[in-house]
Amino acid sequence: MTTYQEFIQQNEDRDGVRFSWNLWPSSRLEATRLVVPVSCLFTPLKERPDLPPVQYEPVMCGRANCKAVLNPLCQVDFRAKIWACNFCFQRNPFPPSYAGISDVNQPAELMPQFSTIEYVVQRGPVAPLIFLYVVDTCLEEEDLQALRESLQMSLSLLPPNALVGLITFGRMVQVHELSCEGIAKSYVFRGTKELSSKQIQEMLGLMKPAVSGQQGRPAAPQDPSATCRFLQPVHRVDMNLTDLLGELQRDPWPVPQGKRPLRSTGVALSVAVGLLEGAFPNTGARVMLFTGGPPTQGPGMVVGDELKTPIRSWHDIQKDNARHLKKSSKYYDTLANRTAVNGHSIDIYACALDQTGLLEMKCLSNLTGGHIVMGDSFNTSLFKQTFQRVFSKDYSGEFRMAFGGTMEVKTSRELKVCGAIGPCVSLGAKGPSVSENEMGVGGTSQWKVCSLNPSTTLAMFFEVVSQHNAPVPQGGRGAIQFVTQYQHSSTQRRIRVTTVARNWADAQSQIQHIESSFDQEASAVIMARLGVFRAESEEGPDVLRWLDRQLIRLCQKFGQFNKDDPTSFKLSESLSLYPQFMFHLRRSPFLQVFNNSPDESSYYRHHFVRQDLTQSLIMVQPMLYSYSFHGPPEPVLLDSSSILPDRILLMDTFFQLVIYHGETIAQWRKAGYQEMAEYENFKQLLQAPLDDAQEILQTRFPMPRYVDTEHGGSQARFLLSKVNPSQTHNNSNGWTQEPGAPILTDDVSLQVFMDHLKKLAVSSST
Ligand SMILES: *[C@@H]1O[C@H](CO)[C@@H](O)[C@H](O)[C@H]1NC(C)=O
Ligand SMILES: *[C@@H]1O[C@H](CO)[C@@H](O)[C@H](O)[C@H]1NC(C)=O
Ligand SMILES: *[C@@H]1O[C@H](CO)[C@@H](O)[C@H](O)[C@H]1NC(C)=O
Ligand SMILES: *[C@@H]1O[C@H](CO)[C@@H](O)[C@H](O)[C@H]1NC(C)=O
Ligand SMILES: *[C@@H]1O[C@H](CO)[C@@H](O)[C@H](O)[C@H]1NC(C)=O
Ligand SMILES: [Zn+2]
Repeated sequence: MTTYQEFIQQNEDRDGVRFSWNLWPSSRLEATRLVVPVSCLFTPLKERPDLPPVQYEPVMCGRANCKAVLNPLCQVDFRAKIWACNFCFQRNPFPPSYAGISDVNQPAELMPQFSTIEYVVQRGPVAPLIFLYVVDTCLEEEDLQALRESLQMSLSLLPPNALVGLITFGRMVQVHELSCEGIAKSYVFRGTKELSSKQIQEMLGLMKPAVSGQQGRPAAPQDPSATCRFLQPVHRVDMNLTDLLGELQRDPWPVPQGKRPLRSTGVALSVAVGLLEGAFPNTGARVMLFTGGPPTQGPGMVVGDELKTPIRSWHDIQKDNARHLKKSSKYYDTLANRTAVNGHSIDIYACALDQTGLLEMKCLSNLTGGHIVMGDSFNTSLFKQTFQRVFSKDYSGEFRMAFGGTMEVKTSRELKVCGAIGPCVSLGAKGPSVSENEMGVGGTSQWKVCSLNPSTTLAMFFEVVSQHNAPVPQGGRGAIQFVTQYQHSSTQRRIRVTTVARNWADAQSQIQHIESSFDQEASAVIMARLGVFRAESEEGPDVLRWLDRQLIRLCQKFGQFNKDDPTSFKLSESLSLYPQFMFHLRRSPFLQVFNNSPDESSYYRHHFVRQDLTQSLIMVQPMLYSYSFHGPPEPVLLDSSSILPDRILLMDTFFQLVIYHGETIAQWRKAGYQEMAEYENFKQLLQAPLDDAQEILQTRFPMPRYVDTEHGGSQARFLLSKVNPSQTHNNSNGWTQEPGAPILTDDVSLQVFMDHLKKLAVSSST
């Protein structure tokens, strides 16, 4: 007998799926009463070292509007060589190549352990991967030098047959020709003029000029040899490109006092997108933008060049005082849409002390599955190591990046799909399994995911459609199939198929079974994604109110209590942690914007809606570990009472790693005890959290900001803003005798939050 915990873990390991409910309510009405929708977190390319791909094509159901893939849930008649589709019940003959199958000789895709299986598809031409660097030259010399080195280094990490190209920009935009002979040429564009894709291609000589009879190049439209001048195989040009990068100079235009440099980010990106659009539609390609400041001229400008006008803040936005915001966001949204249509993706590496316009530009990466990395400078290990990790390889030596993905969802008849939240765009595939009730990006059963890696995770929402009076038969199972097609980094086309099923349960007679099938971790992350999705278009307080309402309803549905008696309120084990996740979510930077700049909020949200469950939970409720002489390191409550003078704390928020030395520890450290031979154990105590932090720093993407601080240190705010303020100044009478540090905040504490929640949940008037 496995517990739900084990069941959930096994399913995540095998299929990369975590459902909010692992028993499904058998009617629409009962499903809506559960508050948390039937939904899941799905990691399409979850790393599976034990799953070698099969070298043949999937067998599909013959019904035109079904095309589900043969899977272990299908009924098979081995004698007649027929299989019944478990989604539409069509009976399909096996293809001739399956003539030899029998009970004892089954193809992999029929075996239960292959509920997730990957196929290598041989058809179609093989296209090389493309990496187009778009480099801001309005940088300080130190940043430019560091960036030059990182870019040069990266050439050795690219797949050798990948095509690579270079665009640089400042006041002007330059597209560099990478020819192997003659003087290196470049094509120059003005940074102020918006150009169509066609104009860009004409100016680069990728097409015949529109008017014949001009001194036209002989090149036909999309002539590959013409494009080759800008995108060359790495192995052929790496020496010359290394030289070219080494010679990159700062933008030569003088920047007068009191001005910002003129930075043509908008035009540079549109030239990059236009170049790829014409020549390589639907080929795996990454545009990699490296920028050190906001766009200051031309289309997509975020702020003017007058330094005395600061870049927009949340305050400006709220007062409708952000002059360029709408126009600029619209410009990048349109560009992002075009990029997604072409199946390309855009990464943004933004390194500067001030904001760089991520708020306006975020869609470029959000819609195309690109990375966003935000740092203070290019000369930091945060940038350098994160950038290297883009090219990291998996257990079999393959790059952890996939391109041009499409994900399709098929459902059994009792279910429809409402939408997805993650780095995807709709492919507008209508059909009988598409719900009218949209959640996230909905109205479709197929999404495009231009770029994905093993941790890319989508939240998927479903609707139970069976009516109350015609419930699903007891013992029946609902099924969902995810079909993910993509270009593997080896340039192979692959199809990964995951087929899952869960039992139906009658919510009236089996509510306790449904309750114990609740996955509170997955549900917290899924509800958080819904909240973050809303926060993009609704006011912050409205989103918080919505989340609170959902939480109260869930507690009313599943809590045990006597009416109007808050002290009697209890939640069962399967829900006991859920309110605490919501408490921390309410305080998180995903929903609280005013302690962060608009760029920071965009950055945090960008990562939150794409990471897997484990990482997402850390983001919602950071991990806190304690190191002391009283025992081995241990996880402790994310609570101000955990801050003690004789402890070192290590906090992991995903974006930051904070090491905090308690007051006594900090004094000892200042006094230098760690250098004295007789205090070797103190030296070891200081070292232990550093070693643990190192382990996280070495694998996380993007690399977290590392903060080393102590009691009273200015950076201690990183820790103090995250812990539950269980001891505030209100109740700090004599706090010096009490353990723990008081928190400077007027937030309510978890205790106050829970007390309110209980009161509202048990109240007969709500
Ligand atoms: C980059 O930073 C390191 C360490 O902070 C410093 O030694 C080095 O000089 C910097 N590089 C440049 C080009 O300034
Ligand atoms: C680089 O280009 C120059 C001309 O610009 C050419 O003479 C040289 O052979 C090339 N070097 C390499 C290593 O390909
Ligand atoms: C981007 O595409 C979506 C879906 O096709 C559309 O709804 C949206 O209006 C487009 N946005 C822009 C700015 O073109
Ligand atoms: C990503 O883009 C979608 C539009 O498809 C938008 O609704 C969503 O809020 C965006 N997410 C973030 C975190 O910017
Ligand atoms: C702290 O005290 C102030 C004023 O006495 C009060 O308004 C506030 O709600 C209190 N905060 C908490 C967390 O009790
Ligand atoms: Zn079918």
